[in-house]
Amino acid sequence: MGRKLKFNIFRYNPLDSNSVPHTDTFHLEETDSMTLFIALTRIREEQDPSLQFDFCCRAGICGSCAMVINGRPDLACKTLTKELPTEITLMPLPVFKLIGDLSVDTGTWFRAMNEKVGSWIHTDKTMDPNVEEERMDNSLAEEIYELERCVECGCCVASCGTANMREDFIGAVALNRIARFMLDPRDQRKEREYFEVIGTDEGIFGCMGLLACEDVCPKDLPLQDQLGILRRKMGWSAVKHLFRFG
Ligand code: SF4
Ligand code: SF4
Ligand code: FES
Repeated sequence: MGRKLKFNIFRYNPLDSNSVPHTDTFHLEETDSMTLFIALTRIREEQDPSLQFDFCCRAGICGSCAMVINGRPDLACKTLTKELPTEITLMPLPVFKLIGDLSVDTGTWFRAMNEKVGSWIHTDKTMDPNVEEERMDNSLAEEIYELERCVECGCCVASCGTANMREDFIGAVALNRIARFMLDPRDQRKEREYFEVIGTDEGIFGCMGLLACEDVCPKDLPLQDQLGILRRKMGWSAVKHLFRFG
């Protein structure tokens, strides 16, 4: 017989004027390899069809199932209940707009962030489909790929003290995007243009450096390293500008 699990789940429907934020409790018997996705699906099918939560890939790839699990943001589809105590409290991610219960709108936040940092290759070259694709050094491609693995789940944003206090903070995820494009030789932006975006309180100067973002990232992105590298590059760029060399 499996463990008896107790789930405390945040409930609120902002579209229903009679709804008030509260917690509902559900009980389930744990089964082998039970993930929070399986548990929530069973609760919805067997106990409360109105429960709202998001899932798509169920494989840690789409980033849609992030929620606060016993106080820590993580992906519900890759969290096994056996890794948790028998009492499990699930809350929606903070910072993002609540859709209902555990479901939040991360898309609007990420779209705004990607637009703010110009999260695409900036080039004046036009694409010629008849020309062989440009080659890139393998090690550089791997370095870029390492930073491309972000699934935009929002865990790092939800765990960030600054993002919780100020709406305009672009977060470690945005700084990671900038770091990725700075590595890419196809992007023709000058260092100065990148630093105009991130060299503000909305960017790197708003970061308190306590690194909750890296601690909770389910894809283990090296956010700490990227924050350090960007800080060093900005400092070096300021020195070059001051002494007019480089
Ligand atoms: S290190 Fe910076 S970006 Fe990461 S959680 Fe802390 S304040 Fe937020
Ligand atoms: S950096 Fe990590 S925690 Fe942040 S959105 Fe990307 S995958 Fe999620
Ligand atoms: S459902 Fe896609 S990451 Fe969890």
